[in-house]
Amino acid sequence: MKVAVLGAAGGIGQPLSMILKNNLPAGSKLSLYDVAPFTPGVACDLSHIPTDVEIDGYTGDDLTKALEGADVVVIPAGVARKPGMTRDDLFNINAGIIANLVRNIAKTCPKACICIITNPVNSTVPLAAEVLKAEGVYDKHRLFGVSVLDVLRSETFLAKELGISNQRILVPVIGGHSGTTIIPLISKVIGHEQISAERIEALTSRIQNAGTEVVEAKAGAGSATLSMATAGARFALKVVKGLMGEPGVNEYCYVEGGNKNSPFFAQDVIFGKGGWETVVDYGCVSEFEQKLIDEAVPQLEKNIEKGVNFAKDWLEKNK
Ligand code: LMR
Repeated sequence: MKVAVLGAAGGIGQPLSMILKNNLPAGSKLSLYDVAPFTPGVACDLSHIPTDVEIDGYTGDDLTKALEGADVVVIPAGVARKPGMTRDDLFNINAGIIANLVRNIAKTCPKACICIITNPVNSTVPLAAEVLKAEGVYDKHRLFGVSVLDVLRSETFLAKELGISNQRILVPVIGGHSGTTIIPLISKVIGHEQISAERIEALTSRIQNAGTEVVEAKAGAGSATLSMATAGARFALKVVKGLMGEPGVNEYCYVEGGNKNSPFFAQDVIFGKGGWETVVDYGCVSEFEQKLIDEAVPQLEKNIEKGVNFAKDWLEKNK
């Protein structure tokens, strides 16, 4: 397996690359790319960790070299929020970065699974789909928005609420990866009956605003990097396991298809040798959760349209 990280020298990219260097299967290759000129230095640093993962670092015009033969590409590239900003406020800068990187992926490693961390994920993923379609290589089973940090946060907060170990909790999180489109299904958590309706509303709101909680705590120095790197690596390692044929590997992520509410939706998927293979139906939800889904759908539609429209203009200007 070859995994490429685009944006590898940034706040998310460096710890993400470190986790991958320590956890990819022996014999894998890790390829780091970033516009930051010290990216080969980050690779050099990580190369001293004694694991059987070969690592190279690239910058500048070497994006093609970084992508050659990649099976999985993880993209944390782009700018982060400052206090007072929403993820959507990042769109104008990050959209162009994603369009350009995805076109390069389409040309160099068209069969790679692409895992997008760059915000606003609700829009950058549909945007990427349009660029891949224009290049004639789109396969919805190989394109993912990384929304699993919402699962990690939900599990942390719910485990604390219930006074149980983080290892003993599973919280499905569906919808999207922004504000009210983040929908934790607390009604599915074993023991949720012990939590009052008011507390469930408060926990839901905390999960939906957890990214902002970090942005405010970092006071202008960016958004979640270490927890996002943990989430991104957990996700990429599962994609790798699926590609290697390990059965029954699943995770929540934002993908196209499989849901009647919205063309793109964060949901539980099972991975296989061709990317995600099936979507697991989330089943019955509480009245409160159904209301959240109904309210999220129009928001998701707007986010998706924004990505698609940007891609159309960008493709026109960058023929
Ligand atoms: C997060 O959820 O922490 C990330 O999407 C970054 C952000 O801007 O909130």
